[in-house]
Amino acid sequence: MRIAMFDKNRTVPHIQTPPPGPISRELIETDERFVSPSYTRFYPLAVKCGRGSVLEDMDGNLFLDFTAGIAVCATGHCHPRVVKAIQDQAAKLLHICGADFYYPPLRDLAKKLAQIAPGDSPKRVLFTNSGAEAIEAAIKLARYHTRRQHIIAFYGAFHGRTMGALSLTASKVSQRRRFEPLLPEVTHVGYGNCYRCPYNLTYGSCGIECVTHFEKKLFKTTVPAEEVAAIIVEPIQGEGGYVVPPPEYHRELKALAERHGILYVADEVQSGLGRTGKMWAIEHWGVEPDIVCTAKGLASGLPLGAMIAKAGIMDWEQGAHASTFGGNPVSCVAALETIALVEESLMRNAAEVGDFLIGRLRELAERHPLIGDVRGLGLMIGVDLVKDRQTKEPAHAERDAVLQHCFAKGLVLLGCGESVVRFCPALVVTREEAETAVQIVDAALAEVERTLALDEVGVGP
Ligand SMILES: Cc1ncc(COP(=O)(O)O)c(C=O)c1O
Repeated sequence: MRIAMFDKNRTVPHIQTPPPGPISRELIETDERFVSPSYTRFYPLAVKCGRGSVLEDMDGNLFLDFTAGIAVCATGHCHPRVVKAIQDQAAKLLHICGADFYYPPLRDLAKKLAQIAPGDSPKRVLFTNSGAEAIEAAIKLARYHTRRQHIIAFYGAFHGRTMGALSLTASKVSQRRRFEPLLPEVTHVGYGNCYRCPYNLTYGSCGIECVTHFEKKLFKTTVPAEEVAAIIVEPIQGEGGYVVPPPEYHRELKALAERHGILYVADEVQSGLGRTGKMWAIEHWGVEPDIVCTAKGLASGLPLGAMIAKAGIMDWEQGAHASTFGGNPVSCVAALETIALVEESLMRNAAEVGDFLIGRLRELAERHPLIGDVRGLGLMIGVDLVKDRQTKEPAHAERDAVLQHCFAKGLVLLGCGESVVRFCPALVVTREEAETAVQIVDAALAEVERTLALDEVGVGP
């Protein structure tokens, strides 16, 4: 595969100096002296520039990027139309504060998000700077509107790291350790995960226990339904392992919420903005949430989040909630251009290349015993690695080894869940780039399986 941007004669990936090369090393050494040690850098990639699905590191290596800044650069790195919109707006107005004044990009984006939000009910929008802040806003609005306190969230969920959002997050204990007490009245329940059912049941004969147990058990024993403000749920669980719930899950969960006057909040921070082949992942199930939270892909990399709520629910008084930077004009124009691109062609591309990629990864599963499950929608795809297909024991170390092999060969991938390789490339990714990625993953799996086989017969290092 050739790309024109960096150097016409170089194919991608192109590793000329095994990373980290000398310039990257110097950057990383200084970074590690001054930057918070809480960051989770998995390998030494120091980035100079990016275009589309390609990253160039400080030493001139070219990487194929299948992380897109963790599902953020929806339109690819530095899409020329997004860059142009940002440049034009930056020369006009950088900031004025949407909580206090009016300006066209904020009005235009609010109108657009209200129009494209799932379902037909009129909507209103509150802008934030991040996904976690959009979740904070949803928690506050749900409490304000319902005058109830309790929130239900899910094991495996990731909703962010600010104190309210963290109270809902339940994906890794390291994210919560020593930060308690968090928000009171938060209850976690098992997510609709048919590959690793939290109730040890089998889809088809399970009676959708992951929904029915609310009324059978939870509301009868520990959580009074009439005190629950919201169920906050990821349509596809992201950091928890790219888990796609069973077909009736969201419909039944929403119906249950309605029966009890509970708001249904869809956290589309990772799954929204065309990533799954539809504008919002929840549209795959035909459900209209009461509140939708979005961020990540919304502005192609500029910081922006939004909470979109049914207009009748957003009934709070002046001053109840706002943010100085939320809805910054430059971020808003980036978002308007991003949405235009997603609507014009990228959502379709996500569906098409996503189908191709998932098909090719399923072919790999036929040859690689390490692969336990391949799942996803559009370009939100997870490959779950297991030590044994029967026990489904997560192959955590093996997953990490696969990611390191891929990085060494110039493919940037990250994990999620305990043992999942996550594929969340930019929505501009081509079929050719997807094929290149599959071939690198194929070779990495073969290498890790070979090492495991050697270990088993005692020949390994
Ligand atoms: C589903 C989901 N919600 C919320 C967040 C938090 O977003 P941010 O990191 O912008 O605060 C994330 C981030 O990964 C996410 O995946």
